Amino acid sequence: MPPPGDLPAAIDRLRQERKAVILAHYYQDDAIQDCADFIGDSLELSRKAASTDAEVIVFCGVHFMAETAKILNPGKTVLLPDLQAGCSLADTCPADAFADFRRRHPDHIAVSYINCSAAVKAHSDLICTSSNAVQLVRQLPAERPILFAPDQNLGRWVARESGRELTLWPGSCIVHETFSEQALLRLRQEHPDAEVIAHPECQQHLLDLADFIGSTSKLLQRTETSPAPSFIVLTEPGILHQMRRRAPGKTLFEVPGADGCSCNACPYMRLNTLEKLWRCLQTMAPAIEIDEETRRRALVPIERMLAMSA
Ligand code: 13P
Ligand code: SF4
Repeated sequence: MPPPGDLPAAIDRLRQERKAVILAHYYQDDAIQDCADFIGDSLELSRKAASTDAEVIVFCGVHFMAETAKILNPGKTVLLPDLQAGCSLADTCPADAFADFRRRHPDHIAVSYINCSAAVKAHSDLICTSSNAVQLVRQLPAERPILFAPDQNLGRWVARESGRELTLWPGSCIVHETFSEQALLRLRQEHPDAEVIAHPECQQHLLDLADFIGSTSKLLQRTETSPAPSFIVLTEPGILHQMRRRAPGKTLFEVPGADGCSCNACPYMRLNTLEKLWRCLQTMAPAIEIDEETRRRALVPIERMLAMSA
């Protein structure tokens, strides 16, 4: 069936017919964010997925996020507009290699960033997001050593902030490793009043130049609450849509990639489009499926996270 002319109206009709809720991450295209019932960071979206009474969850984000929603809601249909919307960071951590990493560190607590597959979650003791990682690691028993996977940049920052030593999995995100330090230094020189705000997935040499570090939601809040007139934003530029909306008087600068490219946009997030969102509601596909044994084991560290960061 060809897509209708007025996609937002058609999406809205189908959302009601299907009793669906549309959840969107801040990195989604503006048009998708504008259709969503709820926009948030990974932690807020997991909480929303855990509490929704909608029969269908349309997850406008990437695969591990939709998978987390399905782990929490096995009886619901969870749709992802494009099943190819993966995550370069999650891909750095295959489940069998992670299981082997665990076997080599049998006395360690395994903390995994939510950006990993259900199979890796099933091998983890605790899940965290960029918004609660420091808070959760601080709660772990002081005498137990800790493994942290898969993001080494986030892990280094969490270690610094929590004062705990972490054994890191050597993963990273292609988007957050792309920002040009030269471009950042130039922007800072041109706009001395601007605050540099960064996502903790950025490399340490960039985090060292940041005035404020936090998850996408925390960066958004910072643009609202800081007295600074402008911000240099070191994360995926999808977040600028809500920053412009919630901090309308502020000037925002995004930082380009090292060779001036626009590879600061997450290519996986951008696979979801308004047309694919409409089509998935129309056809009720593609839906996330997880084998029950993996789902059951992956649920334990996610529920632990939700309880510990309540
Ligand atoms: P948040 O935890 O801020 O939502 O970040 C998720 C992510 O994938 C960042 O690249
Ligand atoms: Fe994964 Fe990086 Fe995209 Fe976030 S920005 S979803 S970590 S590839």
